[in-house]
Amino acid sequence: MRKIFVIAFVSVLFSCQKEKTSTLTTLIPVPQSVAADKGSFKLTESTKIKIETSVEMVQSVANYLAAKLRSSTGYALPIESGAASQGDILIQLDAKKELGKEGYELKVDETQVVLTASNPAGLFRGVQTIRQLLPAAIESASVQANTKWTIPAGTIHDFPNYAWRGLMLDVSRHFFSVEDVKRLLDQMAYYKLNVFHWHLSDDQGWRIEIKSWPKLTEVGGQTQVGGKKGGFYTQEQYKAVVKYATERYITVIPEIDMPGHTNAALAAYPELNCSEQTLQLSPGNEVKRKVPGLYTGIGVGFSTLCTSKDVTYKFVDDVVRELAEITPGEYLHIGGDESHATKKEDYMPFVSKVQKIVASHGKKVVGWDEVAITTLEPNTLAQVWANAENGKLAIAQGAQVILSPAKKMYLDMSYDSTSKLGLHWAAYVEVDSAYAWDPTTWKKGIARENIFGLESALWSETIETQQDIDYMVFPRLPGHAEIGWSAAADGKPGSRNWEEYKIRLAHHGPRLEAMGIHFYQSKLVPWVKE
Ligand code: ACM
Repeated sequence: MRKIFVIAFVSVLFSCQKEKTSTLTTLIPVPQSVAADKGSFKLTESTKIKIETSVEMVQSVANYLAAKLRSSTGYALPIESGAASQGDILIQLDAKKELGKEGYELKVDETQVVLTASNPAGLFRGVQTIRQLLPAAIESASVQANTKWTIPAGTIHDFPNYAWRGLMLDVSRHFFSVEDVKRLLDQMAYYKLNVFHWHLSDDQGWRIEIKSWPKLTEVGGQTQVGGKKGGFYTQEQYKAVVKYATERYITVIPEIDMPGHTNAALAAYPELNCSEQTLQLSPGNEVKRKVPGLYTGIGVGFSTLCTSKDVTYKFVDDVVRELAEITPGEYLHIGGDESHATKKEDYMPFVSKVQKIVASHGKKVVGWDEVAITTLEPNTLAQVWANAENGKLAIAQGAQVILSPAKKMYLDMSYDSTSKLGLHWAAYVEVDSAYAWDPTTWKKGIARENIFGLESALWSETIETQQDIDYMVFPRLPGHAEIGWSAAADGKPGSRNWEEYKIRLAHHGPRLEAMGIHFYQSKLVPWVKE
């Protein structure tokens, strides 16, 4: 008797606790300000999405929201212009609100949901908040009957802390399809990221069609780590990804890594190598050239473009020109890391010349932190991954940095010694370690005003499938997204409260599951089951 009472009591307590966790308290990234109110809004089959403008970008944000909500609710959710009536969701631009490029305001009461922003990008970010305020089942691809689609009442004011909140994917070590990339862009959008850095070339593969140098992909794209078939994107496919990203207010930054990490290009075009050798094709038929073979291992630092040849700069100019033509974003990434096979006296003028080539095609440069030992062009960004001292050299030249410290933000680092995927040359990076740090206190001499943004990086030496990507990206990416978007949740500048964050992250487990994401179920997180 007593036992039954205790069980009943505990289960009532448990269900009460469950009721009490408002989605207003589990948002990632945590908004700049949240004020809860009494009651909630109910999304029903008569809900309409109202837009007060004919601006096409507002319509497409409304279309995106409707598409996300229709699959799981099964409701029609028509999009109509005009003022909102009872039970509707209103999406509106209001330039007077001065919410910044990506900021938004969300007001929810029992009668309406009103999402306001100064720019369409802000509306898009706010839509992600609406998704997270609904029950996790909203992310299901099929209709979830008997779910109460409620949004808790309250007011949110929100805007990002950093302008650049990125994710890099290496498609060179292993190649990933356009569909894989789009899926990742969807996941990034959910956590309000805005930069997709696409690592398109490396020793193991050249992955983007360059029409004036066709062998880059014909030869250089053939294989990947381990020797299986590689692949590449046509320029049409590249443009389709850029369009998909743009619709999610994500800027694509393509990277062509040079002068090192270039074996695939050197194998495709022997004239880009410095030294020549004599190849005996048949008796009396000799050709002088150096032809490194395609490379399918995971070593680094052995390849270099020949920095003293004119043809190298013709090559760089053609590649940069073709990429600039199909890239609407302001930046191109020129790599510059781990060029151990390039003498310093060759590396310095090479990076200077390449920066000028990029500028001549109307773009700004991002380079890995090593580029900071050269003279940087105004507006060049240094991406600090290994050496904070290089970041400081960039800052001393008046440049800003993007922080991607490998010990915190490299998503290819294993979680712990039992992880089947990943490497650990920088560190094991558990979910708490990925989250519990702050850019402003990471290194003395790199202050808030020096930091343009943050970027997570997924190198793919050990990553072969979409499921592998899921497993390494989640659940670390939401933590990085929060560091980029939100002021520290406990209000102390530069600090991150893991104990508070892990509870919010736990509530994202059912959301990730509903999205079909095969995430790492870290034991450090008290995952919520729904
Ligand atoms: C890098 O990880 N080599 C930038």
